[in-house]
Amino acid sequence: MSVLLPEFRTRLLLTLLCLAVLFWTTATLAGGFPETSVELPLSPLPAGLHSLMPVPVENPLTTAKIELGRKLFFDEWLSRDGTISCASCHHPDKAFTDGRALPVGIDGQSGRRNVPSLLNSAYGKSMFWDGRAASLEKQALHPLTSPAEMGNTLEAVLARVRENPAYRRLSEAAFGTAAMTPGQIAQALASFQRTLVAGNSPYDRQLLTRDDSVLSEEARRGFALFRGKARCAHCHEGPLFTDQKFHNTGVNWGKKPMDLGRYEHTGKEDDKGKFKTPTLRNLLLTAPYMHDGSLKTLDAVIDFYDRGGSAHPNLDPSIKSLSLSGQEKTNLVSFLRALSIKEQ
Ligand code: HEC
Ligand code: HEC
Repeated sequence: MSVLLPEFRTRLLLTLLCLAVLFWTTATLAGGFPETSVELPLSPLPAGLHSLMPVPVENPLTTAKIELGRKLFFDEWLSRDGTISCASCHHPDKAFTDGRALPVGIDGQSGRRNVPSLLNSAYGKSMFWDGRAASLEKQALHPLTSPAEMGNTLEAVLARVRENPAYRRLSEAAFGTAAMTPGQIAQALASFQRTLVAGNSPYDRQLLTRDDSVLSEEARRGFALFRGKARCAHCHEGPLFTDQKFHNTGVNWGKKPMDLGRYEHTGKEDDKGKFKTPTLRNLLLTAPYMHDGSLKTLDAVIDFYDRGGSAHPNLDPSIKSLSLSGQEKTNLVSFLRALSIKEQ
């Protein structure tokens, strides 16, 4: 009897090649981002990440696809007027965010949601703040045709890549054909993004070495608060500090026009105002915070939770005022800082 498994259950586990590619990319994150050529030293994933990364069966990771995906990711010519690439909003130096509250797309148009980091999105069970795309592959074509982002048509994108000799060569290597399909563009972009991993933060090194000098006393106390009194770990759990679920913390409820979050995808009353729990890794590179970019600093985030979020009819029951002391707030911020690749 054949059993139909949901898409995420059908993914393959990581191969050695994948491990190598992932390591290579992490190594390059520290010092800029080469646009060409891949070297693949064999080495484990960065400390702190789950050692098995889900990769869809129908899109195994290959070096050729990753190279093609990288070129697509950085190519402004894929937008209607040649001014915007994926990297315009997902900049490598900012953990693949843009440093703004809200993004700026084609013709200077403002987007309505804050740009999420793409680091470790390979582990994501759904994409976007409302989870409306089920995988990196399903997400990848949205920005190309979104009128407020890259503003192009798939026909125009296809024509541009099919007539370009560099793309024809890369596509031939990746897919055995010089004329890419939209599905292949999505596969290549997804493959490239699977290499954007980052771990090995001070927190991970402390766990690995059990050397208490790696984390400050403040950060260690912050971790205890994070799991205890402050209740953060109710939702921010696991290696990426997210349960990958959707919760209502009341961020910007009542703002006009209202962003209904997860409800826009599911139509369920109960989902109004719910957003995906974001990872807490690399926050030092990804300010401002929240789906609307409304909180500029980590101190402001802690104050927000200390107040018990914002009032909302659907507010999550674990969001309550916390009565944190000034020192406890400082400790929590120290802990959050210790989850970044680099302390700044
Ligand atoms: C104009 C800015 C902009 C451009 C250009 C852009 N993005 Fe995004 N990206 C965003 C914003 C904003 C979101 C969150 C939108 C939402 O949740 O509704 C997002 C979300 C994502 C996500 C989901 C991440 C997660 O964890 O949920 C992925 C993956 C992604 N973008 C990849 C890409 C790729 C690939 C390209 C190029 C083909 C691209 N983006 C181009 C702004 C942009
Ligand atoms: C009920 C689940 C829940 C709890 C408890 C919770 N969070 Fe969150 N957190 C979320 C969700 C959901 C978001 C996104 C909210 C939005 O943008 O509307 C978020 C956003 C954040 C962000 C912004 C990240 C970014 O990239 O924009 C930080 C930082 C954060 N939380 C830290 C904490 C800390 C620290 C605590 C404990 C004091 C905590 N959270 C408690 C669910 C939770």
